[in-house]
Amino acid sequence: MSKKTRKNILIGVCGGIAAYKTCFFIRLLLKKKYSVKVIMTEAATKFVTPLTFSALTQNKVHLDMFEEVKDEPVKHICLAQWASLCLIAPCSANTLSKIALGICDNLLTTVVCALPKETKVYLAPAMNDCMWSNPLIQDNINKLEKIKKYKIINPLKGELACGSYGQGRMAEPEEIFKKITSGF
Ligand SMILES: Cc1cc2nc3c(=O)[nH]c(=O)nc-3n(C[C@H](O)[C@H](O)[C@H](O)COP(=O)(O)O)c2cc1C
Repeated sequence: MSKKTRKNILIGVCGGIAAYKTCFFIRLLLKKKYSVKVIMTEAATKFVTPLTFSALTQNKVHLDMFEEVKDEPVKHICLAQWASLCLIAPCSANTLSKIALGICDNLLTTVVCALPKETKVYLAPAMNDCMWSNPLIQDNINKLEKIKKYKIINPLKGELACGSYGQGRMAEPEEIFKKITSGF
């Protein structure tokens, strides 16, 4: 396991069209010499291939909690301890809700749950406007916002990939970059 520094950014990618924006965001981090590791949910791999993220980061993309890796017997703990900050972008309604409930049913949700108390988790949700305004999703957001460790980067109003207009577009990569680097 590499030595933990303040430059280790762990990025979780969920299943949504905005996953392509995360490629631009990662390039901003790499230009500033941050080390980046990526965890993708299974749904995320339907939108952007793991190959894109591994080529960008020059690191293996993590997908499977139960894959056996030499020198990393308990992968979710190694990743949680490596990270100096975790960002989930795009964060789906599904993953946001699972994190708020402490559910650990895949590598990403398990790593987030296993992060040390001082490691901040930024969530950049992206979803259809009806999903965003659904009271259950809003309840889960409120629940996370009450815990200092979790920071929500609100989605923007505008045209959405599904064709409707409203709040739900993931924040732009430059804005996410400013938010997470100023919060260090
Ligand atoms: C074309 C398409 C676009 C989607 N976009 C989103 C999205 O932007 N936000 C979202 O929360 N779910 C979106 N979904 C649904 C998620 O992919 C689905 O809820 C999935 O279970 C999320 O899994 P994950 O949280 O493990 O990534 C989309 C599904 C499809 C087929």
